[in-house]
Amino acid sequence: MHKQKRKISTTAVLAMILLSLGPVGSVTAQPPPKDPNKYVPGLGDLMGSLLVQHNKLWFAGDAMNWPLAAYSVDAIKEGIADMKVLRPRYKGESIVEMLDGLTAKPMQDLEEAVAAKDSARFVQAYDGLTQSCNVCHQNHEYGFIVIARPTVPFLTNQRYQP
Ligand code: HEC
Repeated sequence: MHKQKRKISTTAVLAMILLSLGPVGSVTAQPPPKDPNKYVPGLGDLMGSLLVQHNKLWFAGDAMNWPLAAYSVDAIKEGIADMKVLRPRYKGESIVEMLDGLTAKPMQDLEEAVAAKDSARFVQAYDGLTQSCNVCHQNHEYGFIVIARPTVPFLTNQRYQP
């Protein structure tokens, strides 16, 4: 009796699964293709390109290639500005406030160091920015994403020497 009951319920479950799959051979409704014009990169994607710019900036400053360093600082500023527009909120919190609060000062220090062509200040400001990356990661349970001074350029086909 017990066995019989179990068999019936297994059959019922199977029937339900088959029903939910729809008639065999039918074309399942597909979501329309994503409109590429409406693609919005995730915060992680935007962070990935920030990582590249962070790497490039180090080698530009290290080589005292100040025009290139200024360009890299601008690229980071743009990357941060993009995040504020494209991903203004993250898990219910304002990214705009977090980014401003943490990165505004180190970014200003970097701009000033590069404009002054001052290597010592550049290194200090660079480390300040790196620290702001890590503080935010730590505050958002991403303490395992640790940003550091790079030791090799991201790619080797761009020259950093002025
Ligand atoms: C305002 C807070 C904040 C600041 C400042 C910040 N991050 Fe992030 N970062 C995050 C969050 C949140 C994530 C996780 C995003 C996700 O995966 O959805 C993240 C993820 C990342 C990742 C992982 C992305 C991946 O796909 O591998 C990298 C790399 C990264 N950040 C680099 C940086 C760098 C470099 C800086 C500084 C120049 C920086 N971040 C500054 C909040 C921040």
